[in-house]
Amino acid sequence: MSSTKKLIVGNWKMNLTIHEASVYVHHLVTKVQSHRDVEVVLSPTMLALQPISLQIDRRQFKLAAQNFYWRDHGAFTGEVSASQLRGLVDYAIVGHSERRHIFHEHHKEVRSKVQAALRNNIKPILCVGETAHERMSGEMRDVLHDQILGGLTNVTSSDMSEIVIAYEPVWALSDGTNYSEHKVPTPDDLKKAIGTIRNQISHLYGEKASKEVRVLYGGSTNGSNAASFLSVEGVNGLLVGGASLNQHEFVKIIETAHGMESK
Ligand code: 13P
Repeated sequence: MSSTKKLIVGNWKMNLTIHEASVYVHHLVTKVQSHRDVEVVLSPTMLALQPISLQIDRRQFKLAAQNFYWRDHGAFTGEVSASQLRGLVDYAIVGHSERRHIFHEHHKEVRSKVQAALRNNIKPILCVGETAHERMSGEMRDVLHDQILGGLTNVTSSDMSEIVIAYEPVWALSDGTNYSEHKVPTPDDLKKAIGTIRNQISHLYGEKASKEVRVLYGGSTNGSNAASFLSVEGVNGLLVGGASLNQHEFVKIIETAHGMESK
């Protein structure tokens, strides 16, 4: 598998005010070492992106948008476009299960957002993952296939180097606080899901793309279980929710990623 840097993304979801986010980052910069083998990305509320961009050194932290609208401009009251985020963020989360399930975003929106991010020089982090029901019904493979195909339709081979895929089984996501005791996939479960994702990329874009695409795991990760996920073959990093709001946990995850050999 690829020997890329580990990618650790903190998705703060709808938490922290602008002031709280700024205080959090103020402390985080003193605790997170810059490591050449780990890329750390912060994904705060949209409102905090600009102030945090002025607070951070882009060599230490990169920024990701949690969401955006796929049109570049126009009469879309209340929306923010990828073209408005251009230059401010390096990444954007697309197809998160909370957007799919709560805001009813389907393949069409997801693929339009992937395209909008790419044309604005923003790397999409495409989230895929099955629900508990789909897992119980043996549909994990089909769901991942549909979500990958749905999101990547219109993505060319040369775009693939910009794409990150995050496997986030919906049944493993915490509510933001119970990430230490929540159910998570076993290393075997995870290996199977990552294998499914990489196989499909191979089918669509060839062997090289399948080895090189960065694939993250997300779902109740924390400082104590990060190593077990990061050591699964084909996992290039973590998309961290609840634990990224706890400095101790988040720093521990980054330090765990540091020095772990990519498989
Ligand atoms: P938790 O780590 O809180 O389960 O959230 C994962 C997630 O949804 C990240 O996008």
